[in-house]
Amino acid sequence: MSLIIYNIGMLVQVRDETVAFVAGKDMSLLPVVKDAWLLIEDDIIAGYGSMAETPSFSDALNRMDAGGGYVLPAFCDPHTHLVYAGSREKEYIDKIRGLSYEEIAKRGGGILNSAQLLHETTEDELFRQSMERIREIISFGTGAVEIKSGYGLTTEDELKMLRVIRRIRNESRLTVRATFLGAHAIPGQYKENRNGYIDLITNEMIPAIAAERLADYIDVFCDRGFFTVEETERILAAGARYGLRPKMHANELDYSGGIQTGVKYKALSVDHLEFTGDEEIAALLGSGTMPTLLPGAAFFLGMTDPPARKMIDAGLPLALASDYNPGSSPSGNMKFIMSLGCIRLKMLPEEVINAVTINSAYAMGISETHGSITVGKKANIIITQKIPSYEFIPYAYTTNLFDRIVLNGEIVGK
Ligand code: NIG
Ligand code: FE
Repeated sequence: MSLIIYNIGMLVQVRDETVAFVAGKDMSLLPVVKDAWLLIEDDIIAGYGSMAETPSFSDALNRMDAGGGYVLPAFCDPHTHLVYAGSREKEYIDKIRGLSYEEIAKRGGGILNSAQLLHETTEDELFRQSMERIREIISFGTGAVEIKSGYGLTTEDELKMLRVIRRIRNESRLTVRATFLGAHAIPGQYKENRNGYIDLITNEMIPAIAAERLADYIDVFCDRGFFTVEETERILAAGARYGLRPKMHANELDYSGGIQTGVKYKALSVDHLEFTGDEEIAALLGSGTMPTLLPGAAFFLGMTDPPARKMIDAGLPLALASDYNPGSSPSGNMKFIMSLGCIRLKMLPEEVINAVTINSAYAMGISETHGSITVGKKANIIITQKIPSYEFIPYAYTTNLFDRIVLNGEIVGK
């Protein structure tokens, strides 16, 4: 099927040649075409140009009048935990009353609470609950998502989560990447035997997951109170033997050494990074590891924000992700994440748009096919209502501006 979209007020994030990601000063550059058309053939972007020079298109084409709305690439959300059972609003109340994220975790709440709920939930029910979140994020403009395991914490339950992620990949229109996060927390029964749990991850979970090809990446929550650098290294080395590249949780709670460890193991991304200083920045520069910030988590938990401005000014690229999860960020709304990027992290609108498209595509290993309006890339796009500028998108921070979403060349919007 071919589709021509015309009367586009502005085509945003147009890249002729394939750019893997943008860094430093280039993050504030956002290529656009005003008054544009866009041609989609099957599920691929086939061409674009200015309305002033519209070629004649065959009558057989499907046509869509964008009515002056803007078109941008659908968001790539490179860090979520959206496969989970139930919800954790009781801990939200505990947080309002003054308990910290770590205190809640120490009492057996937090990740272990979600693990218990997940254990009691069937695979079908887990899939059903997760698909509601998938439909929700599509309506928010997300076209590609990375989803982690990590609420299983037993071989059987980690496999259950990863099979649900595979089913989402097969049955939804989203582009999905799966990450194995067995090292999300130490389960209660291994509290006095941490090595026993790490052995279980390296000797049993990783081989079982690799045998079914259930994961693209491997993650470890390398932070104070969770996994140490030494433990992280053991797990990443085992993952590497099975071809699993790291995408890590690092430096959310402290200067944990997680960033340097991620770079050492050639992580595709290191994520959170609230505690990032000069040494961490030096390790990241030129590394090929995408620093990925999750401003929803720091916002929701009322914690420190990462030094985004300092990182960009030092020449680093940045990606943004939602971290959609029941404990620290129960939202997958990437438009709101863009607003938090501007308001809390002092990123410019151009920088946040780059951070949720081309750079976040890189952070999940799909920037050759996603993240920009480029001929030959996947036709995953958002068509906005008529808006005065692209800056208006993060500015209008709760207005749903996205009427129509096209995924794989098909209109899926409301
Ligand atoms: O990215 N930091 C670790 N993991 C998640 C939170 C998971 C949870 O609390 O359920 C995060 O914030
Ligand atoms: Fe996370």
